[in-house]
Amino acid sequence: MAHGLLFILLFSSILSTNHACNQSQSSSLLSFALSLSSPSLNWTSIDCCHWEGITCDLDGWVTHLDLPSRSGFNLKGGVFPSIENLTHLTYLNLSHNSLFGSLESSFFVSLNRLEILDLSSNPFFGELPSFIPSNTRMVNLSNNHFHGAIPSPFFRRARNLTSFSVRNNTFSGSIPSSICLHSSPLIRLLDFSFNEFSSNISAGLGKCAKLQVFRAGYNNLSGSLPEDIYNATQLEEITLPSNAIRGDIKEEIVNLTNLTILDLYLNQFSGMLPMNIGKLSKLKFMLLHSNNLKGSLPPSLVNCTNLEQLNLGSNNLEGNLSMLDFSKLSRLSKLDVVSNHFTGVFPN
Ligand SMILES: *[C@@H]1O[C@H](CO)[C@@H](O)[C@H](O)[C@H]1NC(C)=O
Ligand SMILES: *[C@@H]1O[C@H](CO)[C@@H](O)[C@H](O)[C@H]1NC(C)=O
Ligand SMILES: *[C@@H]1O[C@H](CO)[C@@H](O)[C@H](O)[C@H]1NC(C)=O
Ligand SMILES: *[C@@H]1O[C@H](CO)[C@@H](O)[C@H](O)[C@H]1NC(C)=O
Ligand SMILES: *[C@@H]1O[C@H](CO)[C@@H](O)[C@H](O)[C@H]1NC(C)=O
Ligand SMILES: *[C@@H]1O[C@H](CO)[C@@H](O)[C@H](O)[C@H]1NC(C)=O
Ligand SMILES: *[C@@H]1O[C@H](CO)[C@@H](O)[C@H](O)[C@H]1NC(C)=O
Ligand SMILES: *[C@@H]1O[C@H](CO)[C@@H](O)[C@H](O)[C@H]1NC(C)=O
Ligand SMILES: *[C@@H]1O[C@H](CO)[C@@H](O)[C@H](O)[C@H]1NC(C)=O
Ligand SMILES: *[C@@H]1O[C@H](CO)[C@@H](O)[C@H](O)[C@H]1NC(C)=O
Ligand SMILES: *[C@@H]1O[C@H](CO)[C@@H](O)[C@H](O)[C@H]1NC(C)=O
Ligand SMILES: *[C@@H]1O[C@H](CO)[C@@H](O)[C@H](O)[C@H]1NC(C)=O
Repeated sequence: MAHGLLFILLFSSILSTNHACNQSQSSSLLSFALSLSSPSLNWTSIDCCHWEGITCDLDGWVTHLDLPSRSGFNLKGGVFPSIENLTHLTYLNLSHNSLFGSLESSFFVSLNRLEILDLSSNPFFGELPSFIPSNTRMVNLSNNHFHGAIPSPFFRRARNLTSFSVRNNTFSGSIPSSICLHSSPLIRLLDFSFNEFSSNISAGLGKCAKLQVFRAGYNNLSGSLPEDIYNATQLEEITLPSNAIRGDIKEEIVNLTNLTILDLYLNQFSGMLPMNIGKLSKLKFMLLHSNNLKGSLPPSLVNCTNLEQLNLGSNNLEGNLSMLDFSKLSRLSKLDVVSNHFTGVFPN
């Protein structure tokens, strides 16, 4: 008895001097560990702030749960709601495990300080909750089994969001183009690729003054590109292959002077290539094959001197290729012009 009392006194003095793990936090973590079927967590010492993958603040609240898969270390099991009481969490990284469960709104209500959420490469499933916390800066849900539409208020509070990826799930509905209008003006990366998003991309992205990367390939998108996309002048990458997008690539694209990747292959783009495309001097990858582009190549094309890959195959392009001085494209390592109506030969 006396020994036990001594132990408790000793234990509580350690707690108060070292800002050790709050009891409520360690019981949450232990309930998380219990929900796992994989026996790989070595969470046995007294102070949970020193457990693998855990970081606490000075008051003993858990702020980081950083348990991505490492070699020989793959977490399996359902994690919600066991971590719901880690209310001071700002960083949650559970990527590349075998964790499942669905994100409920109550989860984000309690974890309302969350800034970084990386659940990528797991079998998480279900629909998204109606919103993410206002501090969120980065969300990566790629390579999971989430489905359904992105709820319209989802981004509303997240004014600091800079990166959002839902690549490779089965999301449907339309792309949330209005993301910068009322909610997240700082967004730099949007990745919707490999889902079941449909209908046209409505206007709105033009208000994304910081947008650098826009990916939505391998979906069922249709309609034409919204004209205001050419107002997002920080764009460096537009990757939209394998959809059913039609219409012209507008001359205004030359306003996107930082563009390095333009990947629109396997769509239904028609019309001619923009006359001043040569102003896009940073372009490295121009992948426009398998569309319905017509007319001859604009002479300015050879001013895209940083081009590394130029794929124009399987279109209705025409004209004499000998007229263009391809030798100006000294970095070109891949050129494909097959299945068009070109005449002439181009020099090596
Ligand atoms: C531990 O957490 C509880 C709430 O769960 C709180 O009331 C208590 O003050 C915390 N203790 C310390 C030492 O921070
Ligand atoms: C578990 O962690 C303790 C310290 O926290 C360490 O002494 C022990 O070697 C670890 N065991 C394994 C199997 O990693
Ligand atoms: C979270 O905290 C509540 C209230 O303190 C408690 O009832 C519940 O059991 C806790 N949940 C977990 C998973 O620790
Ligand atoms: C999560 O952890 C993985 C593996 O260490 C790392 O590659 C990834 O960048 C982390 N995610 C974030 C958002 O920090
Ligand atoms: C999201 O996670 C995947 C898999 O972990 C990774 O490959 C990808 O780079 C991440 N995306 C972003 C935008 O961080
Ligand atoms: C956004 O970030 C700024 C600077 O880091 C911070 O002061 C502000 O509180 C954050 N806003 C929200 C809604 O989290
Ligand atoms: C999508 O994710 C699954 C795992 O969930 C993976 O096996 C597959 O290779 C990924 N596909 C793509 C296109 O990234
Ligand atoms: C998108 O579709 C709506 C209605 O279906 C239409 O009014 C709008 O003009 C279309 N926008 C584009 C850019 O195709
Ligand atoms: C692009 O921005 C300009 C200047 O801010 C504006 O006048 C124009 O209406 C915008 N274009 C579209 C299609 O939104
Ligand atoms: C493109 O830039 C020119 C001048 O730099 C400007 O007059 C025009 O409005 C811009 N167009 C768009 C669609 O932003
Ligand atoms: C292009 O990139 C440079 C360097 O990253 C940056 O300073 C500039 O603001 C970007 N945007 C435009 C429209 O040039
Ligand atoms: C290519 O760029 C050069 C130098 O900037 C310019 O003089 C020339 O007119 C451009 N050619 C075309 C066809 O736009």
